Amino acid sequence: MADIDQLKAELLASVEAASSLAALEDVRVHALGKKGAITEQMKGLGALSADERKSVGQALNSVKDAVAAAIEAKLAIMADAELNAKLLAEKIDVTLPQRPEADGFVHPISQTIEEVVAILGEMGFGVAEGPEIEDDWYNFTALNIPEDHPARQEHDTFYLPGVGDKGRKVLRTHTSPVQIRTLLKSKPPLRIIAPGRTYRCDYDATHSPMFHQVEGLVVDKTVHMGHLKGTLIEFCRAYFGLDDLPVRFRPSYFPFTEPSAEVDIGCTRAGGEFKIGHGDSWLEILGCGMVNPKVLENCGIDSTEYQGFAFGVGIERIAMLKYGIPDLRTFYESDLRWLRHYGFKALDVPSMVGGLNP
Ligand code: DAH
Repeated sequence: MADIDQLKAELLASVEAASSLAALEDVRVHALGKKGAITEQMKGLGALSADERKSVGQALNSVKDAVAAAIEAKLAIMADAELNAKLLAEKIDVTLPQRPEADGFVHPISQTIEEVVAILGEMGFGVAEGPEIEDDWYNFTALNIPEDHPARQEHDTFYLPGVGDKGRKVLRTHTSPVQIRTLLKSKPPLRIIAPGRTYRCDYDATHSPMFHQVEGLVVDKTVHMGHLKGTLIEFCRAYFGLDDLPVRFRPSYFPFTEPSAEVDIGCTRAGGEFKIGHGDSWLEILGCGMVNPKVLENCGIDSTEYQGFAFGVGIERIAMLKYGIPDLRTFYESDLRWLRHYGFKALDVPSMVGGLNP
């Protein structure tokens, strides 16, 4: 019996000492397996007297039960520990900063278009669109620029091989054809802006074959030059963020407006430093005018009943001025260092309420 007590103590001690699932399995086989220590002892029972067989048999059975229970308990503890270790290893630290390579930037052209849309959207302008591949008629003729008109030469047009319903195909040289498409499609009163890509066959530090404009058009029965001036003065001041920005209207000529004007904003070049605002100098930033009655008539609108104003702004030009970007060509080079410097955070969405440049 002393042997059995010792066996029990040894087996329980080795269960306790087992530090892995594999070691515990070894202990189980060694104690309870077919050739295990307890089984071996059981085999010797036949040689004992009936009385001894009974008491030794009972003692061995209780050792067997005790060791099996100890193994069970140890297994449960180990499974728990294993799960905890796994959970700990898989823990995510939600306070870690985002991975730096996930940074992206909004291109200054996109941002500038968003700003213009935010300002004019607040004034009630809706956004209209037109195709970049345009028919000659929409790009020129309907805008009062017929075939033999000298203004045609000023647009270095990319002509395309095809011929559309309304003459040969061109890459639109300005966003003004969207005026025509809008006037043909919707009845006045209307108030739209049309931002988009435009194309001219020209390339140097201040010209790119592809660039961007925003067109504006308002048509109603009583629209007059005062509305044009008020809208554009307010636009310039909001865009450049200067409440007292000097804005000047200078007579000019465009075939699709009559009268026509160019808008200059005040600036200074004192001390060799260029600054927008009060100063001794002026800078041209956009073209505008009262819609030429011929344009309205070309679109089937009675020009004795309706009149309107229009304007066209170069996006790159106003972006360069506001953000101090010196070379036009850098807009299209996709240089990531440039974009990191001049780009905008994706969530810096311009609005008149939240601010144009939060
Ligand atoms: N389409 C002109 C250009 O590309 C810009 C322009 C001037 C648009 C006067 C207008 C306008 O709507 O009224 O040079």
